[in-house]
Amino acid sequence: MAVQPAVYGASERPPRGDYTRAQDDYTCAQDWAGYSAQDHDTYHRLYLRQCEQLPGLASEAFIDALPHLGAKERIPRFDDVNERLYRATRWQLVAVPGLIPEVPFFTLLAHRKFPVTDWIRRPEEFEYIVEPDVFHDLFGHVPLLFNPVLADYMQRYGEGGLKAARLGACEMLARLYWYTIEFGLIREPAGLRAYGAGILSSHGELPYSVQSPVPQRLPLQLERTMRTRYKIDSYQQTYFVIDSFEQLFQLTAQDFEPLYARLRGLPEYAADERVV
Ligand code: PHE
Ligand code: FE
Repeated sequence: MAVQPAVYGASERPPRGDYTRAQDDYTCAQDWAGYSAQDHDTYHRLYLRQCEQLPGLASEAFIDALPHLGAKERIPRFDDVNERLYRATRWQLVAVPGLIPEVPFFTLLAHRKFPVTDWIRRPEEFEYIVEPDVFHDLFGHVPLLFNPVLADYMQRYGEGGLKAARLGACEMLARLYWYTIEFGLIREPAGLRAYGAGILSSHGELPYSVQSPVPQRLPLQLERTMRTRYKIDSYQQTYFVIDSFEQLFQLTAQDFEPLYARLRGLPEYAADERVV
C-alpha cells in the first residue's frame, strides 16, 4: 500500500519517491520502462522465495489469487493486472511515488482504487525495507483485492477513513488497518493462516506470525484493536485473529462515531501488552 504516514508512523527520513511525478490525487504513471534488469530480478527473487513458504502459512484465498499477478519473472504492468482485477471485483491499481497522506489515500480506496508504489527496493534491502515498495504493495496487498468480501471491506475502509478524518479519529482507524489489512491472521479449517500484507510480503514474519510461541494472538475485537499501539520496525508482539472475511466485514459494519467517542476517554494498550 502506499499509505499515509500516520499508518507507518512519523519518520525522520524523507520518503524515497519522487513526488514531482504525482498529480493532485498523488497518482502517477507507472514508470515501467524505468525498471532495470536488476529491478526485475529483485522482484523475481523476492517472489520465488516467498512463494516457497506460502503453503501452510498463507490464507487459502491469497494462494489461490496469487497467479492473477501474472509472470513472476518481472514486475507486472499495473494495467495488465487491472484487466483481471477490474473484471473480478471492479478494483483498479493506480501507481503512486510512495506513501501518501491520509485523505488522498482514503479517497482512492473509497473509489476502489488501490495505490501501489511503483519503485522496488535496492538489492541490499532484500531482507528488509522500512517504506513499502512495489513488492510489498503488489505481492502483499493485491491478491486479496480479488476476493469479493475483502474488496468491499477495503472500499468501506476508505469511506470510513474520510469519516474518521472529519472526526479526528484517524489514529484509531489506522490501528484497525494495521491489525487487519497489514498484520491480520485468520483461523481457517486447516489451521491458523496469515492474510495481512505486511506479513505476506515478509520472509521472516510469515512463519513467525503463524508459528512462533512468542507473540500473543487475540480474537479481533474492535475496541481492543483500536486501543492497541503498534510498532513499525519490529515483528508484531500482538496479532488479532478473524474467523472469516465475512466476520471482519460484519464486525466493522457498525457506525464508528460513538465508538470513537467512547474510546477517546480510555487508556491505550502497548503493542506488547499482555491480556491478563
Ligand atoms: N463502519 C465504519 C464507520 O462507520 C467504516 C468502516 C468500515 C471502517 C469497514 C473500517 C472498515 O466509520
Ligand atoms: Fe501495506
